[in-house]
Amino acid sequence: MEIIIAGSPRKGMYSDRMAEAYASITGGEIIYARSVNVHPCHGCGWCHGKGEGRCVQKDDMPDILERIRKADRIAIFSPIYWWQLTAQTKLIIDRMYPLSAEDWKGKTLTVVVNGAAEDDDREFTLLKEQFGEMTDYIRAAYRFLGVGTTDDAAFEKALEKVRKLAAEK
Ligand SMILES: Cc1cc2nc3c(=O)[nH]c(=O)nc-3n(C[C@H](O)[C@H](O)[C@H](O)COP(=O)(O)O)c2cc1C
Repeated sequence: MEIIIAGSPRKGMYSDRMAEAYASITGGEIIYARSVNVHPCHGCGWCHGKGEGRCVQKDDMPDILERIRKADRIAIFSPIYWWQLTAQTKLIIDRMYPLSAEDWKGKTLTVVVNGAAEDDDREFTLLKEQFGEMTDYIRAAYRFLGVGTTDDAAFEKALEKVRKLAAEK
């Protein structure tokens, strides 16, 4: 099972369309980050202590965490905002802190980012390396795709790459 986080605030735009094309092939379940009630991580550490993998906050994240725990694949589709992912996406990533090494075992993280820059822009390399470090740390398998969605033609090309990625095992 795969959980797909669609991180754009813009309904029906590039990230959504890529996530939906991807899900139609993998059968993954999409969570639209803009539509869920997820607050920032408090950094209280309860999840790593008394909480034993649970979060102290009572918003939508405990349910999302359980769905992520059951999944063997997680995919993130986000626009690039200021060389990073959107705040909506980051809220969910931070709140994955309760997941243990055991929870991450055997999981694959796929990160797909799109930005208004050209395909060869350094922002894609920087994000690829950054998530490479994160997935090394959590010992998850990792796939990355960074695409420039400068115009409709570029977007169609990007969509093809996404479909190819979805079809890969
Ligand atoms: C606040 C803001 C910051 C942005 N920063 C970047 C950036 O650093 N690099 C980039 O390539 N595009 C940047 N963009 C453009 C978006 O990434 C681009 O329009 C993207 O295709 C939007 O994806 P969506 O259709 O899924 O919302 C920015 C857009 C906004 C609104």
